[in-house]
Amino acid sequence: MPLVPMRILLDHAAENNYGLAAFNVNNMEQIQAIMEAAKETDSPVIVQASRGARSYTNDAYLRHLMLAAVELNPKLPIAMHQDHGNSPETCLSAIKQGFTSVMMDGSLSADGKTPSTYEYNVQVTRQVVRAAHAKGVSVEGEIGTLGGIEDGHGAGLSSAEAAKHITDPQQAQQFVADTGVDALAVAIGTSHGAYKFTHKPTGDVLVMSVIEEIHRRLPNCHLVMHGSSSVPQELLEIIRRYGGQMKETYGVPVEEIRRGIQHGVRKVNVDTDCRLAITGAIRKTFAESPEEFDPRKYLTPAREAMKQVCLARMTAFGQAGNAGKIRIKTCKQMISFYKPKPKAKTRAKKVVKKVVKKVVKKLAAKRPAKKSARKSGRR
Ligand code: G3H
Ligand code: 13P
Ligand code: ZN
Repeated sequence: MPLVPMRILLDHAAENNYGLAAFNVNNMEQIQAIMEAAKETDSPVIVQASRGARSYTNDAYLRHLMLAAVELNPKLPIAMHQDHGNSPETCLSAIKQGFTSVMMDGSLSADGKTPSTYEYNVQVTRQVVRAAHAKGVSVEGEIGTLGGIEDGHGAGLSSAEAAKHITDPQQAQQFVADTGVDALAVAIGTSHGAYKFTHKPTGDVLVMSVIEEIHRRLPNCHLVMHGSSSVPQELLEIIRRYGGQMKETYGVPVEEIRRGIQHGVRKVNVDTDCRLAITGAIRKTFAESPEEFDPRKYLTPAREAMKQVCLARMTAFGQAGNAGKIRIKTCKQMISFYKPKPKAKTRAKKVVKKVVKKVVKKLAAKRPAKKSARKSGRR
């Protein structure tokens, strides 16, 4: 099957109350790790690429790697998503490259750093929604601002600053109405990267209650959690044991993500955990076998380590076992789904017009018969 629009995966997840991990990729081994885990667990897949990933792979390598993933896994529905599009241009070029879903992150200005205004966010997101939906491509928007910086994208807010940028549920409701996005990323105190929390997070820094309130107001909107790596202590430990320097840090506990999934979270972004797993495995190989110089010798365990992270998340979020159950739609088929439906009044008017037309036609057909009856003198 071709790459599928993300919207159908999110809809299925919502109907069956599970979440989908969206893993970031930059190279072949990461894509292979995700696909192997998905195959083993029969999971639908969201693969996402940041702007950094697109320039690292020069788009063309990425596109062909994804085509290989599709070819080798014909039974798995796979969505290809632009992560943190900084402008409509970025999103449009992703669509041209065959992405089936895009994120217009208008919570920041086009520089990917400065928090923007609500009006700017609505304007650019609406523009992307219009263009993407005309091609059946799904759109994620963001309201509120995350902390942390990764590859230039992120407001670079400290935890205290980030707390001030937590999504306002009322504004989230307005934003969805103003833009028509398929999915909404919300800020609840998480940040990108490994350094999220100095202690295992409690409800005052990781405000899951905001998710619950947004879901109460927007029960039909698919919510997205960014910065949702769990930063497992055992992965940090492996990196440290083999010479890496990782300071004390804590991520988003899987049980909190599962709580989010109970309240409308359908997409959970995970990048850092995969990076940690890969780095630990490579460091271990280098430390234990310093004579190795064949990249396959350290990339194979690295790929395996990332696969284990993917397996764990796919299972924990509930997407495992669902790939075969999804009714597939292509982007082309999604175009009519997004076309504005005629209003009830207009529809009723159309029906009346049709009936009147039919009656007039019937009467017209009867008229010549009456004439000929008169001519023949019959009564
Ligand atoms: O949103 C951030 C993701 O972790 C992607 O990171 O921009 O370094 O590729 P990146
Ligand atoms: P992490 O850095 O927590 O993995 O978050 C990734 C992310 O949100 C990508 O958009
Ligand atoms: Zn993100």
